[in-house]
Amino acid sequence: MTNDTQAANNAGKNDWLQSYWMPFTPNKAFKANPRINERAEGFYYHTSDGRKILDSFSGLWCCNLGHRHPKISEAMKAQIDELDYSNAFNFGHPKVFEMANVISAQFPGDLDHVFFVNSGSEAADTALKIAIAYQRLKGEGTRTRLIGRVNGYHGVGFGGISVGGMVNNRKFFGSLLPGVDHMTFPYDMGSQAFTRGEADIDVEPFMKELEGVIALHDASTIAAVIVEPFAGSGGVFVPPKNYMKRLREVTKKHGILLIVDEVISGFGRMGAPNAATYFGVEPDIVTIAKGINNGAVPMGAAIVRKEIYDTFMEAMPVGVEFFHGYTYSGHPLAAAAALATQQIFAEEGVYDHAKEMSAYFEEAAHSLKGEPHVIDIRNIGLAAGVTVETRAGAPGARGTDVFLKTYENDVAIRANGDNLAIAPILTMGKAEIDQTIEALRKGLRAAA
Ligand SMILES: Cc1ncc(COP(=O)(O)O)c(C=O)c1O
Repeated sequence: MTNDTQAANNAGKNDWLQSYWMPFTPNKAFKANPRINERAEGFYYHTSDGRKILDSFSGLWCCNLGHRHPKISEAMKAQIDELDYSNAFNFGHPKVFEMANVISAQFPGDLDHVFFVNSGSEAADTALKIAIAYQRLKGEGTRTRLIGRVNGYHGVGFGGISVGGMVNNRKFFGSLLPGVDHMTFPYDMGSQAFTRGEADIDVEPFMKELEGVIALHDASTIAAVIVEPFAGSGGVFVPPKNYMKRLREVTKKHGILLIVDEVISGFGRMGAPNAATYFGVEPDIVTIAKGINNGAVPMGAAIVRKEIYDTFMEAMPVGVEFFHGYTYSGHPLAAAAALATQQIFAEEGVYDHAKEMSAYFEEAAHSLKGEPHVIDIRNIGLAAGVTVETRAGAPGARGTDVFLKTYENDVAIRANGDNLAIAPILTMGKAEIDQTIEALRKGLRAAA
């Protein structure tokens, strides 16, 4: 903070905050009562008002190793002194090729070609474009429809919000992409509340419904189905047992590509390298971002099966095979941070630690059952969602209240409406999990 901004802040004016239009934030409320992180280290943020806040949301589902990991910082500093930027079109640099190999080795089957982008939103839109173009190149140009899911989140690009299913992210933005349909969300609070992990229920009704949607449009018009393995931004909702396996079978049977959005589930969140491995399912396309380089520099990717890549290569014998890309695709700084991050994951047993902690975390999260306002708790790996009862006529108000009261107890989580989400840093231990849950417990008790 400069002396001027500090002075303005001290005078209580907060004028210096006004120009910045903040994303997914109630700007007026924030600017009246700002939360400014000046510094971070390990599990903690250090704020402008001298507080030390436990980051129990891993940044925004992205700092899976905590903040300013020394090995990541070192790699980034070295990269800056070597190659700041390299033209992404028609030129390459060593680390981006290396990184593509490291990533493809972590995903099952022949998911081994990686298209780099700069965010989860770009990854989703890239995956949708690849799916439609692939079908066309294969001679199935009528397959242009996309199927998403109610309550799904695939970022904020027009593709992502079209296949996404969160009402506020869609309703302001016109008619969106044409030819999109949605499946039912496989979670019913009435029958599944307080489920631990995956619910043991019959998934066939969901598959029957999907078969109905496919029959309505005819499979020959459908390019792809896209889902999150567990819904993260929507509030941590976990699919029932066998859901992902059956989804794979149904899509395959109809020649429909399955895109799995692993922007949150990738890189250890489920106590496994990724959801594809966790569920034993091989999607056709996977999208990743966030944890890929610990949130240190924007980066994401769409990973495709060999057959998809080969189709593009063979269909276009000369020239550009896919008319798509971003100035910052595979940025050297992002790639350097990513290589360091992936090395730490591999060498320091981070995924195994996350798996070990997940049973303790489940127990801790579910200990909130019976606290005021709590009507549901869900969890998988190191992610948990807690839903509070909506205040009459004020959806989201109580969730925000609990979030703020938890923050007063020096712990940062996230509220999305009346769903509160916890995503501990993967290297946290029992003490930090306890601190998180106790702060949330106090928050629930203090909220009106
Ligand atoms: C499943 C999923 N897809 C896409 C995105 C969008 O990522 P970004 O904010 O990097 O565009 C998110 C962000 O939370 C996400 O959870």
